[in-house]
Amino acid sequence: MQTKDSEDLTRVGPGTVMGTFMRQYWIPACLSSELEADGDPVRLMLLCEKLIAFRDSEGRVGIMDHRCPHRCASLFIGRNEESGIRCVYHGWKFDVNGKCVDMPSVPARMDFKERVHAKAYKTYEANGLVWVYMGADQDSPPPKPQIEAAMHPDAEIWCLQRDCNWLQALEGDIDTSHVGFLHVGSLTVEDLEEDHPMRPTVLNRAPEYEVQQSDWGVMYGGYRPNDDGKMSWRVAHYMFPFWTQTPNNRFATRAIARAWVPIDDEHSMLFDITCGTDTGNPAYTSTLKDGTPLFEKISFKPNSTDWYGRWRSTDSEANDWAIDRDSQRNGTQFTGIPNITMQDQAVTESMGAITDHSFENLAPTDQMIARVRRRVLMAARAFAEGKAPAPGANEPEVFYGARAGSFLHDPEDSLEAAYKTALSNATRWGKAVEAAE
Ligand code: FES
Ligand SMILES: [Fe+2]
Repeated sequence: MQTKDSEDLTRVGPGTVMGTFMRQYWIPACLSSELEADGDPVRLMLLCEKLIAFRDSEGRVGIMDHRCPHRCASLFIGRNEESGIRCVYHGWKFDVNGKCVDMPSVPARMDFKERVHAKAYKTYEANGLVWVYMGADQDSPPPKPQIEAAMHPDAEIWCLQRDCNWLQALEGDIDTSHVGFLHVGSLTVEDLEEDHPMRPTVLNRAPEYEVQQSDWGVMYGGYRPNDDGKMSWRVAHYMFPFWTQTPNNRFATRAIARAWVPIDDEHSMLFDITCGTDTGNPAYTSTLKDGTPLFEKISFKPNSTDWYGRWRSTDSEANDWAIDRDSQRNGTQFTGIPNITMQDQAVTESMGAITDHSFENLAPTDQMIARVRRRVLMAARAFAEGKAPAPGANEPEVFYGARAGSFLHDPEDSLEAAYKTALSNATRWGKAVEAAE
């Protein structure tokens, strides 16, 4: 990929091609549980902007530039009290909309609080997530997103900071051909029960692909003949602007959505959101035939108040992601790293904070990655040049068309036909709830 393309895709600060494009969409900002009414403000960096988030006495959420609009002291050290945040420097106070509601350091006759605003963004909260709209036109935010997993009131959500650019982090999710190596490279079919969802991957580690453009972004189906005569499909999606749906779940019984939200150009926050009627993501929770867990649990550092202090894993480049060379040699884990997410974390962070795209040699099995890069770049540039709206930003229902997972199907059918049937047989969430509102 050319340097200019790489820069346009990876830079997300204000005024950049990708940064402006991402700002057309609602963005997951933090978990609802991270903000307590009248509790401590949280330092929150999003798309290279240093912000604070707080919950006021009425439970409303405010997300704004961390600098006080008087003389730029950080509102992070402000007092969250009586329905607003009060700067500790001269006592000016702001409500969640950024309106200055008190200016006690200025004599009453010279008070000009009506003319002062903190730079606040529109927020929206649902199902355990706080969303923010960082677009230029704060008076007309787009409609609420219709991402299936996030529309379930009991969705399970967890976060993880990754110390690299959003794009290379995301590309790990749409790269089905790594699964047979990075994650299950040392397994054999004898290790797995007959109906284990990883069985087709272990049977054939070089899948064929079908990739096609969709209204919400790009979808792919990795397919391999299963040993029962059926075709094994793993269908996954890229969704604008930084979402994926990964294929490790059972298609019919679980919905997933993963946002790779840029903190800045070199750090990203994953929001992993799932809901379902089954027992969860088999890649995370399943066991081998002999009862040993396929993967160990991830461990986290306690959150700190630093700009990069939230949802960090215990292991990182600093300790080589806790790689165990004996386990790597003896085949306990192909990588020597026992947690599936840390396996992905290690390879994507090991590329460097922003990978040098000119150094790569893409293979036929990277066609999804190549298509996504092209689709995002063209959409972001078309928006920047005023030629087209940001896809789906104002038609959030298009995202409801996406569902990912693994399933077995008649080998005669194309991706389109197999996907259509699988979708009509799947349990869906959210749509009816949203429509009733
Ligand atoms: S800098 Fe905040 S009130 Fe003066
Ligand atoms: Fe992976």
